[in-house]
Amino acid sequence: MIPKRGEGQAVLVTGSSRGIGRAIAQRFAAEGYHVVAMDIPRQETDLKEAQALIREAGGRCDIVFGDVSNPESVKTFVAEAKAIAGHIDVLVNNAGVLSLALVDDIEPDEWDRMYDVNTKGTFLVCKALLAQFREAGRGRIVNIASIGGKRGAPMQAHYCSSKAAVIGFTHILAQEVAKDGITVNAVCPGIIDTDMGRNNYRDEKALQAVKDKTALGRLGYPDDVVGAVAFFASSDASFITGQALNVCGGIIFH
Ligand SMILES: NC(=O)c1ccc[n+]([C@@H]2O[C@H](COP(=O)([O-])OP(=O)(O)OC[C@H]3O[C@@H](n4cnc5c(N)ncnc54)[C@H](O)[C@@H]3O)[C@@H](O)[C@H]2O)c1
Repeated sequence: MIPKRGEGQAVLVTGSSRGIGRAIAQRFAAEGYHVVAMDIPRQETDLKEAQALIREAGGRCDIVFGDVSNPESVKTFVAEAKAIAGHIDVLVNNAGVLSLALVDDIEPDEWDRMYDVNTKGTFLVCKALLAQFREAGRGRIVNIASIGGKRGAPMQAHYCSSKAAVIGFTHILAQEVAKDGITVNAVCPGIIDTDMGRNNYRDEKALQAVKDKTALGRLGYPDDVVGAVAFFASSDASFITGQALNVCGGIIFH
């Protein structure tokens, strides 16, 4: 049974039109949070579908559009989210991008795109909400990093290093804002069955290899990730900050 830990609270989830972000939004709504789901304008159809699914299930969900990598856009959609919900209690930085290339072949612009969305995007949305969290004397930030940020994988130097930076950022922000009642943690998914995750297993052989290297012997699904995110947002995690928790079925162990 899903606990009703979110009554009276609001959560902003970036990149929540599909995949892990959509599942996180659905989980928070099921816990009673007012969800503000955010994504890029190109994802309007999917974001509206996510909103409709949450509302059909009896949850509260509004949507905002923007681009986490653009400072002006972040200011605008965070202000909209606050105006809609009255206050934001929990921020989930989930928006992310991945492409595959050997270091020899990564174009500088593509390197920047990974960092702009995955790393700078996380920084910008945190920065935009810190004043409100400080004023409230409480806030919860959960950054979706990746086990790639701890171990890495060939063809993903730009992606994995951008996620390692998210973990480093989480450690540092946690120390800076702890005195203000704000916790900052990261969740590091393993290989999860989404549009992005499928880059890791484009055929049956690669899928089997993923299962073989996972202690639990299977692929992860978006719903496998949401419990850890909701836990970090809850009062059960009030003495936990600056941590990066692997949710990977046992691919890495540190
Ligand atoms: N799927 C996996 O195997 C896996 C593993 C580890 C970490 N992750 C991380 O989990 C998060 C969700 O990934 P997913 O697998 O659901 O991927 P996905 O591609 O299905 O979803 C990513 C979402 O982010 C949105 N997005 C992209 N750029 C954006 C921007 N500039 N502004 C706002 N939103 C933007 C996309 O539109 C999309 O809705 C990402 O941060 C990803 O790096 C995924």
